[in-house]
Amino acid sequence: MKNYVRSVFDICDSYLRIARLVPSGGAGLVTSLIVLNLVLGLLPIVFILATSVMIGRVPAAVTGGVGSPEWRNLVASFMVAAAAFLVQQILAPVQESFGELLARRVDGRVYQRLIGASLSSTGIGPLEDQRLLNHLAQVLTSLDQGFRTAGLACAGLLALVARYTQLLAAAFVVGYVFAWPAALALLAVTMAFRRGNRGGLRTYGKLWSRNVPMRREGNYYRATAIQPAAGKEIRVFGLAGWLSDRYRRVRLAFLSEIWAERRRIYLKPYIVYTAFGFVVSGVTLALLARTAASGAITLTQLALGLQASLAALRLGESFPEADTQTQYGMFAYDGVQAFEHGVADFDEKTVQLEPQLDPKGRPSSEIRFEAVDFHYPGSARPVLDKLDLVLPAGRCTAVVGLNGAGKTTLVKLLGRLYEPTGGRILVDGQDIRSYGVDDWRRRIGVIFQDFNRYELTAADNIGFGAIELAGDRRKIRAAAGRAGILATLDRLPEGLDTPLARQYKGGAELSGGQWQRVAIARALFALENGASILVLDEPTAALDVRAEAAFFDKFVDVTRGATALLISHRFSSVRHADHIVVLADGHVIEQGSHDELLAADGRYAELFRLQAERFAEDEAESEAVDAADLQGDSEPAGEGSPGAEPAGEGSPGAEPAGEGSPGAAAEREPVR
Ligand SMILES: Nc1ncnc2c1ncn2[C@@H]1O[C@H](COP(=O)(O)OP(=O)(O)OP(=O)(O)O)[C@@H](O)[C@H]1O
Ligand SMILES: [Mg+2]
Repeated sequence: MKNYVRSVFDICDSYLRIARLVPSGGAGLVTSLIVLNLVLGLLPIVFILATSVMIGRVPAAVTGGVGSPEWRNLVASFMVAAAAFLVQQILAPVQESFGELLARRVDGRVYQRLIGASLSSTGIGPLEDQRLLNHLAQVLTSLDQGFRTAGLACAGLLALVARYTQLLAAAFVVGYVFAWPAALALLAVTMAFRRGNRGGLRTYGKLWSRNVPMRREGNYYRATAIQPAAGKEIRVFGLAGWLSDRYRRVRLAFLSEIWAERRRIYLKPYIVYTAFGFVVSGVTLALLARTAASGAITLTQLALGLQASLAALRLGESFPEADTQTQYGMFAYDGVQAFEHGVADFDEKTVQLEPQLDPKGRPSSEIRFEAVDFHYPGSARPVLDKLDLVLPAGRCTAVVGLNGAGKTTLVKLLGRLYEPTGGRILVDGQDIRSYGVDDWRRRIGVIFQDFNRYELTAADNIGFGAIELAGDRRKIRAAAGRAGILATLDRLPEGLDTPLARQYKGGAELSGGQWQRVAIARALFALENGASILVLDEPTAALDVRAEAAFFDKFVDVTRGATALLISHRFSSVRHADHIVVLADGHVIEQGSHDELLAADGRYAELFRLQAERFAEDEAESEAVDAADLQGDSEPAGEGSPGAEPAGEGSPGAEPAGEGSPGAAAEREPVR
């Protein structure tokens, strides 16, 4: 009983939450839809009334003959019935279109809410949280497909007004012309059928949404098989068979659970409800027939009673315009709310200490990680464990460490994308949380390891480093020049205005290394326009050896005065840093200058020696390529030579990758 009460409460609560969303469709539209649905609910009853009166008038009309007043009465009731039928036919499509409009409006608002929640999140936690990602995936799929959305649930909810108006009116007619207990019995049977249908869908729907992770997995395999992104590897590694087999297995596992549950949910209750409905409706109709036979009710009353009873019983079916919509739309809306709450929960963890300080000019002495602990939400494994680290202002600190050592995590904490779970980060002795998050972030120019490749123009891709100055073409060109990508971008069909995505008209695709230089340019653009901390997480991973060397030749120039944090697996990059820190097991195990660390002969020295052997081979290979390049170079001389840079856009040597240097083979590749 307690469970039953709770389930009724839950159902009412879901309907109420959807009902609260309805007004976002606009007062005028919602009112029109309610009125429309009320009318559509009453019209079938008007039809039943008119046809029943018509049947009652037939004997008198037959006796009176064509043209008699009784005949005219018959025709009048026929006209009313026909009008009720006709208006119903006209209004039904209007109801559908208005419902669709309401759904779209509400879904538009829901989209805005999702985007708002996603962008409002201070940290990155919600967008890396699997539970929230599941919610988001479910909602986005439904919105993108325009199927099972919260908006459709709203339209479905209003469509129920028509159905239940009709049911109540039919029961009222039965009660009025025949007997109130019969009306109640019919209501009970109809609602029992509805419970069988709608309740079953509810249980079934919960199963569907419980299996989101499994569905996501299946969808991932399907998308991987169809979309071009993985096409190369699937073919080269011969993954096609494995992929389709895996997809089939996951899908089958998911569906067999659904099929088994569906039998359990629908079959037995269906038999019970049908038996109950059969007995009650059979008894009611038999009693009605017996009463009519005894002459206690008129022919009109008999026709009314019969038609109204059948109309009521028919409403025990499932409602295609409302049931799946409300059920799955409610789930979609649950997903929206869960995502919003999840974001809000994460945001509560972002602390703002008072009084709020202005980070302008910071850091002037150092950034200090003081006994910083960190583990990702949902995981107990510490990534950083009592980490002590100092980044001196105006100097370059490099962090090295094996994969998974926590280097990128360090960057996320510095950018306040996550909050430490213990310890503090101090900027010139002040807790980082004393600075406004947005103000603090404006101090940082960063290239993330998985930096973004915006499907926008080259200028936008660089200008995003300081959005308020994104229109300053001169500065954008200067940053591109420093990153060694200007000549390449100038060669694109529309120069810096070329969209960096082939799917757009006039768009071009860059190579991995060229993209990385665009990202470097973005960070440098930030640095030139207000940021004073430069964070480079694997900035040269995709650059060829020479381009990397050229970048670091100019590194000191480019980062002059900035506090730089350089993360790299390439020791050729790392050795340029003023100070090198080795991270392992969540804390600093060694630190010092390149020479000091080599002399100490610890982990750094070991890793350096390992790479130095390979690096020597690379160098040799690179020289061989240089020679080949020189022979086959057909580019007009000087295209990318220092002199080709517009005057004033940085020093002549500001093209660190040497775009016109004989060896810059990658840079001279025509960009398609
Ligand atoms: N969003 C996340 N949620 C949970 N765990 C994460 C998340 N991101 C990283 N981790 C885990 O935290 C640890 C540190 O990851 P991090 O990315 O900081 O390593 P890294 O030192 O940058 O490695 P790499 O050299 O491969 O870039 C890893 O074990 C990783 O699995
Ligand atoms: Mg990393």
